[in-house]
Amino acid sequence: MRRRTAISVADLRAAARRRLPRMVFDFVDGGAEDEQTLRDNEQAFRRWTLRPRVLVDVSERPQEVTVLGRRLAIPVVLGPTGLMRMVGHEGELAAAAAAHRFGTVSVTSSGSSVSLEDVATSVPSPQWFQLYPWGDRAMVDALIDRARDSGYEAMVVTVDVPVVGAREKDLRNGLTVPPAVSLRTGWDLLRHPAWLVGLLTHPKPTYANFTGLMPDARGTSGLAAHTTGLLNPAHTWHDLERMVRRFDGPVMLKGVMTGEDARRAVDVGCRAVAVSNHGGRQADSVPAALDVLSEVVAEVAAEVDVLLDGGVRRGSDVVKALALGARACLVGRPWVYGLAAGGTAGVERTLEILRDEIDRTLALIGRPGVASLDASAIGSAGLRSSLEP
Ligand code: FNR
Repeated sequence: MRRRTAISVADLRAAARRRLPRMVFDFVDGGAEDEQTLRDNEQAFRRWTLRPRVLVDVSERPQEVTVLGRRLAIPVVLGPTGLMRMVGHEGELAAAAAAHRFGTVSVTSSGSSVSLEDVATSVPSPQWFQLYPWGDRAMVDALIDRARDSGYEAMVVTVDVPVVGAREKDLRNGLTVPPAVSLRTGWDLLRHPAWLVGLLTHPKPTYANFTGLMPDARGTSGLAAHTTGLLNPAHTWHDLERMVRRFDGPVMLKGVMTGEDARRAVDVGCRAVAVSNHGGRQADSVPAALDVLSEVVAEVAAEVDVLLDGGVRRGSDVVKALALGARACLVGRPWVYGLAAGGTAGVERTLEILRDEIDRTLALIGRPGVASLDASAIGSAGLRSSLEP
């Protein structure tokens, strides 16, 4: 693995690209339709600059933050991503292990390929559970109960998947769950023997939490078809309120892109919101998550924790999000690239890179810790760069 030489998240992405079959890399790296939102999530950070102050004592630069009542050693949470055994055979276990080691949390997806119970018991520190309100009320309730009973201390409810976004690369590549060697995909898979051996010698990457509950869990079908049978586009705020009460612990709503929806989340009892467009994988042409952060912060940050999710690739991106009022950031692809590049050690490398970049950035802009970040730490990059493609 090229972990030693990976000195940035971009390096981990390059390693993931080499190591994974094209169709698996595209599943991770790609977005919906024209990928405008996917690209803009990253570009939005380039529209802000840092305002360095000098001659400040920056010999101590603590990064601790409290999110949903939990003290985290770094302001970075490993966001929920499903089907991770498709990327590396340790799957979601790698995220929990790395998060535990770095004093933060991972969010286990409803769509995890390791059962939520097995992830929960794999590390001593409690993790968070991400709920997709899939299926009927009984199915949703059963999942919430399993999460609570297996020790998840917080629940993240993702509400931006009423239907599956159009990830056209997955359709073109003929991605199936689990990946299958066919005439169409064979050459792509066979050219990556290390990955293929990992896939064939470990449990299949399917939705482990739904085994027996979905008709085609044992078969092979296109990703969208595999998931669509589970979706329930009828949910409303009323249903969310019921889910919040049932979990009986702190809940974060993920997928909020407006001040109005953030307000409603607070009204139904959510203790945090994650500003997120699902990493540009759902609706295309919606704004970059960073571009709507201020609207959400203005509406609810005085009452609940606001997190930023989408496009974070550098520690300086985290610093910018915190300066704009986020309590912490979730990262998706950065840790998945790490998993592809080197399993648990690769995910740890992702966290190490981000932690070190945050630390160095704080020193270089004269801020003695993340608690000292506010709007005076950043400035707009100006009209010229905001007009650049
Ligand atoms: C995701 N995401 C996601 N979100 C969620 O709530 N449940 C899930 O199961 C998944 N699955 C998933 C798989 C893969 C491969 C990716 C890349 C993403 C979205 C994820 O939690 C997060 O919102 C985005 O990844 C954030 O954008 P970045 O950090 O990838 O730019």
